[in-house]
Amino acid sequence: MRHATLLILPAALMLAACQPQTPADDAATPPVDPAAPAASGTAATAPDPAMPEADAQTGMAAATATLAPTEGNEVAGRLEFSSVDGGIRITGEVTGLEAGSEHGFHVHETGDCSAPDGTSAGGHFNPATTAHGRVGQGEHHAGDSDNIVANDQGTAMVDTLLRGATLDQGETGIIGRGVIVHADPDDYTTQPTGNAGDRLACGVIEAR
Ligand code: CU
Ligand code: ZN
Repeated sequence: MRHATLLILPAALMLAACQPQTPADDAATPPVDPAAPAASGTAATAPDPAMPEADAQTGMAAATATLAPTEGNEVAGRLEFSSVDGGIRITGEVTGLEAGSEHGFHVHETGDCSAPDGTSAGGHFNPATTAHGRVGQGEHHAGDSDNIVANDQGTAMVDTLLRGATLDQGETGIIGRGVIVHADPDDYTTQPTGNAGDRLACGVIEAR
């Protein structure tokens, strides 16, 4: 009988001695954690003030242009510019055209539509000093874009592309420059204008 109780006691003491050790180990680690959330908290708030500079919906810069008729014309429109892979996409509507007609459509050097005939917008935007041409087919101006075509109602649904231009105010940037709708189609060949004729409408590209 005596031997039995002596054997059980040491076993119980060993179990009791082991358990208190684990809470002691845990207590040593927590002090490291409070520092980490504080550091990431300050880093997360820092980028926020810069966000309003970009477009709130898409997260990238976007621009618009309102086209107004030049003297003696009724061509008007509204355009939107967005950065896409490989260039700038131009979408929108141009109204007041002859039904089924085709028209040269470019970004021009200067955002100045004050001249009655739109010539104040200057020549095609050409920061790389290249020849006039067609987007996607060799050399062309950064401001060159495909012709727009009017439907039966005389409205052209614009969805075209610029390559070599950027949506900013830098050297290749189109913000603050002009957009012109011409009387004739661009032949994509004649230098330096594509022989697109008179200017029917003019607009200035503005950051949104
Ligand atoms: Cu033009
Ligand atoms: Zn051109």
